[in-house]
Amino acid sequence: MSPFFRSLALALLCLPALQAEDVPLDPVTGMKIAPDWEIVRNHCIICHSSQTFLRQKATEANWTSVLTWMQTNGGLWKLEPDVEKKIVQYLATHYGPGDTANYRRAPIPATLMPPNPYASEAKLEAEAKKQQGLIKPPAK
Ligand code: HEC
Repeated sequence: MSPFFRSLALALLCLPALQAEDVPLDPVTGMKIAPDWEIVRNHCIICHSSQTFLRQKATEANWTSVLTWMQTNGGLWKLEPDVEKKIVQYLATHYGPGDTANYRRAPIPATLMPPNPYASEAKLEAEAKKQQGLIKPPAK
């Protein structure tokens, strides 16, 4: 093998290791050790494992709605606005939809997805029931 190809092969072999070392991981929680990670850890692994949220990918808006959902359904307490902002920013930065390194493959664009038969069936059924007067609009 020529020296050029030998160094190319070596560089390619090292690539995954270099990527993995990009952001160090906390050995206990598996969380990326980046600014504010401890705030997130302190708030988010009391009731469940870190894997509960580390395997999610979401935008800032969606992480904010996860936090709200945690507060209404999970028992998460009210957060100070600056604490909430730090948690959401950490999650969206390190576990955002743009983090394709953790995907098995890139997500399929919505325009290429088939229509969801269940959603439309349910919608048709709801429309029919509404016309029959079986579903009443919410009381004002
Ligand atoms: C007081 C307890 C509590 C705390 C603190 C808490 N959670 Fe949860 N979390 C829950 C419970 C309970 C569920 C399951 C809720 C359900 O399925 O209805 C859950 C589920 C989740 C899920 C869904 C997992 C899945 O695969 O369906 C995510 C994501 C999540 N939590 C993120 C967070 C984040 C981020 C934080 C920190 C801001 C947090 N949680 C803090 C109680 C908590």
